Amino acid sequence: AKILLLHGPNLNLLGRREPAIYGHDTLSDIDARATAQVAAAGHELLCRQSNAEHQLIDWVQAAPGEGVAMIVINPGGYTHTSVALRDALAAVALPFIEVHLSNVAAREPFRRHSYFSDLALGTISGLGALGYELALTAALRRLGDPA
Ligand code: DQA
Repeated sequence: AKILLLHGPNLNLLGRREPAIYGHDTLSDIDARATAQVAAAGHELLCRQSNAEHQLIDWVQAAPGEGVAMIVINPGGYTHTSVALRDALAAVALPFIEVHLSNVAAREPFRRHSYFSDLALGTISGLGALGYELALTAALRRLGDPA
């Protein structure tokens, strides 16, 4: 099956962006490891990043037609603002896991609310890039063996 790994705004800057908070891995490091992890389990990973809310929404809307069975998403700053991206995930009704590199509960108060967590299968926050590996481990466990 296909898993869609979606990265929201500013995550294209990973590695250079506030490394004390977000770590030194670049987005391509993360995507390369994630792709290998999913391929080793016999499934396929699609990796996409956009700074644009409408683009993320369009990808979520297109996911069922592309054969995507599960989404792993770091919505970046849209976590705390985007009713529209939340609505897209609710509309397609695909199971998804929310990932944050930083511990959003331990930062500014405005990061404590997520428009996604109550719809997500689960949320991983504060474990850095390892969070993607853990989320994909959970996603793969749910998908089971490839058909
Ligand atoms: C983030 C946390 C958000 O609050 C922030 O706006 C981001 C990244 C994280 O991965 O820790 O852009 O989602």
